Amino acid sequence: MHYTTEQGYGPLPFDPFKAIVAPRPIGWISTLNKDGVPNLGPYSFFSAISSRPNMIGFTSDTLKHSARNAMESGEFVFNLSTVDLLHEMNKSSEEVEDGVNEFELAGLEAAPSRVVKPPRVAAAVAALECKTTFSQALLDLDGKETGGYQIIGQVVATYIDDRLIKDGRFDTAAARPLGRCGYRDYAGVESVFELLRPTDPGKVIR
Ligand SMILES: Cc1cc2nc3c(=O)[nH]c(=O)nc-3n(C[C@H](O)[C@H](O)[C@H](O)COP(=O)(O)O)c2cc1C
Repeated sequence: MHYTTEQGYGPLPFDPFKAIVAPRPIGWISTLNKDGVPNLGPYSFFSAISSRPNMIGFTSDTLKHSARNAMESGEFVFNLSTVDLLHEMNKSSEEVEDGVNEFELAGLEAAPSRVVKPPRVAAAVAALECKTTFSQALLDLDGKETGGYQIIGQVVATYIDDRLIKDGRFDTAAARPLGRCGYRDYAGVESVFELLRPTDPGKVIR
């Protein structure tokens, strides 16, 4: 099949977009609201966007609490969402009023961050403290606002549970990060493999 956006999803009953762009890492974002109450929510329209310096970004369909707090306070924390915390992550996606502490709602302990004010999820094996560098309303092809917002932040501190460090490297497979796929599907990354680049030193080019 092959269809244009004007034709909806072609013959399909549901849009396969999120199943095609998959798996997506989940930005489990903690922020503080204007009264200092911690907020927590998962965002799979999320990615690392730069390593010079380290920067990450997430997109909110509307101006949800995480996006607004990250824009207003200028700070947010990425918590690594893993298979072990699947249900807590899901619980924190509940749409509740501003001012509800979603750490408590999800039964999670908060731990202080090093540089920014929003706490991290104590049980998450890695977290990236960020300062917001840029935010924008999303525009469509006609230049019309979609209602969505993209937030970008620069990493100012990194937390890693020391048990996940092996030979000086973060052990991604042992952390078992969650990936969001389409529909209600998820993937758990439980194994990785190495592939050297053609230009890597010592690489034999065949
Ligand atoms: C795995 C997962 C990924 C999600 N990704 C997004 C996303 O990328 N953008 C979005 O607007 N909502 C997303 N949601 C829904 C939000 O998490 C949900 O609306 C939540 O209540 C937002 O919380 P907040 O208002 O406290 O920020 C996702 C939900 C789940 C379970």
